[in-house]
Amino acid sequence: MARFTAFLILSLVRLAVAIPAYESLAGFDEREINEFVTRNGVAHIPNPPAPLPAGQDGLKLVNDPVHPFIAAGPTDIRGPCPALNTLASHGYLPRNGVARPDQLVTGVMEGLNLGNDFAKFLVYQAFLMNGNPLTNLMSIGMKTPETGPDPPKPALVGGLSQHGTFEGDTSMTRVDAFFGDQAVFNETLFQEFIAFSAKYGFNGTYDLNAVAELRNQRLLDPIATNPELVFTSPRILSAYSEAVFPTIFFVDGRLNNRQLTIDAARHFFDFQMMPTDFHRQPAPVNFTLVNPLVNEIFNKHPFTPGVNHGKNNFVLMPNTPALSDFCGIYEDIVLRVIPGQYPNPNGHLKKVIKKNLDFFFDAVSAEHNCTQVFPYGRDY
Ligand code: HEM
Ligand SMILES: *[C@@H]1O[C@H](CO)[C@@H](O)[C@H](O)[C@H]1NC(C)=O
Ligand SMILES: *[C@@H]1O[C@H](CO)[C@@H](O)[C@H](O)[C@H]1NC(C)=O
Ligand SMILES: *[C@@H]1O[C@H](CO)[C@@H](O)[C@H](O)[C@H]1NC(C)=O
Ligand SMILES: *[C@@H]1O[C@H](CO)[C@@H](O)[C@H](O)[C@H]1NC(C)=O
Repeated sequence: MARFTAFLILSLVRLAVAIPAYESLAGFDEREINEFVTRNGVAHIPNPPAPLPAGQDGLKLVNDPVHPFIAAGPTDIRGPCPALNTLASHGYLPRNGVARPDQLVTGVMEGLNLGNDFAKFLVYQAFLMNGNPLTNLMSIGMKTPETGPDPPKPALVGGLSQHGTFEGDTSMTRVDAFFGDQAVFNETLFQEFIAFSAKYGFNGTYDLNAVAELRNQRLLDPIATNPELVFTSPRILSAYSEAVFPTIFFVDGRLNNRQLTIDAARHFFDFQMMPTDFHRQPAPVNFTLVNPLVNEIFNKHPFTPGVNHGKNNFVLMPNTPALSDFCGIYEDIVLRVIPGQYPNPNGHLKKVIKKNLDFFFDAVSAEHNCTQVFPYGRDY
């Protein structure tokens, strides 16, 4: 690890020397990338981790002495996802908040018991939109030079906080990017989370009833107030999944009643900390468990994707994939969103993007009957 860091720093220094100061490091063309690769070698891309072995994939104390909470220091990066922030603060992910995809898959499997395919679906999707495919590193928050020299624009390598990729509008505890920092926990919004739990949830907990009502409110509110609201694929899928996730993963696996107490919610969302003695889910959680819950909240308050053209002017986009069209959302990510950042990759860059696209499809197809699509052709 130290050697790799040294390699990155050295490379940055060399590139900074080779490139006039007024040019962004992101401004490489293909020739420069190939020279970089020739000079420095390429980041090794490990295969995605296997599922946790049978017998080690069950209920477990995860806030344990080997994974103590340590608050993020001034140079540690945190971002919009309360789960990944918390896992970083407990050392299930690198504490600095910069990680390889395989580390992220392992971290969410071990720390919260995400099923292997479910973990890979989230991680490789995010990595393709927000990571650096050349160095195989991604920030769980803001863009950082710690992920190494970027591929050419329009690639963003923006980290998970990058608005308009995985991160999008209508979050439960973060404001829309139009209003301020879209990655940081917002107490006012969390008070609304508490109020909806008090009004709709069993015994004041954040349960599926509360989820359905809060999720609907978090769309109605920005429709009325955010003139630049975007609520289309792929954001619609993450928005609805993330509303449900806390009722599963943030509830202690010994109780596992899908009723998240406000105290536990406060720990994960605000403190980025597991509650004392926290146990993860008793079995790996995959789409088979999550999809019916997402469908249930959608059916209570169905919506059509759309964008605001000014406040309170939500223009429906019925020809973009609906929440129910999982394969359509997969195709939208692969054929529209990713080529938007990598319109014409060549050589090594193309090879590593295709590798990650294969990892992504592998996860998609584990529990969905989608057909693989190829933005850059099938040949390698
Ligand atoms: C496994 C890889 C994961 C990745 C790459 C990921 C990434 C993200 C990103 C980019 C966001 C920001 C979306 C936005 O609000 O605009 C987010 C939000 C969120 N994530 Fe994750 N996440 C992952 C796993 C999880 C897990 C296991 C949970 C379990 C509870 C979780 C819970 C949430 C919640 C609740 C939010 C919404 C925060 C809010 O709306 O206030 N995530 N995640
Ligand atoms: C939190 O959100 C509220 C409501 O959207 C907003 O008025 C407030 O300015 C936000 N606070 C911060 C610190 O951004
Ligand atoms: C309701 O919540 C309180 C704590 O807020 C708890 O002590 C009590 O056992 C809960 N009641 C039920 C029926 O779950
Ligand atoms: C999904 O989880 C369920 C329940 O744990 C399990 O029976 C099923 O085999 C899993 N499916 C996959 C594809 O892993
Ligand atoms: C999966 O999709 C293929 C092609 O559309 C179809 O022929 C097949 O019957 C589907 N299988 C299942 C299990 O739905």
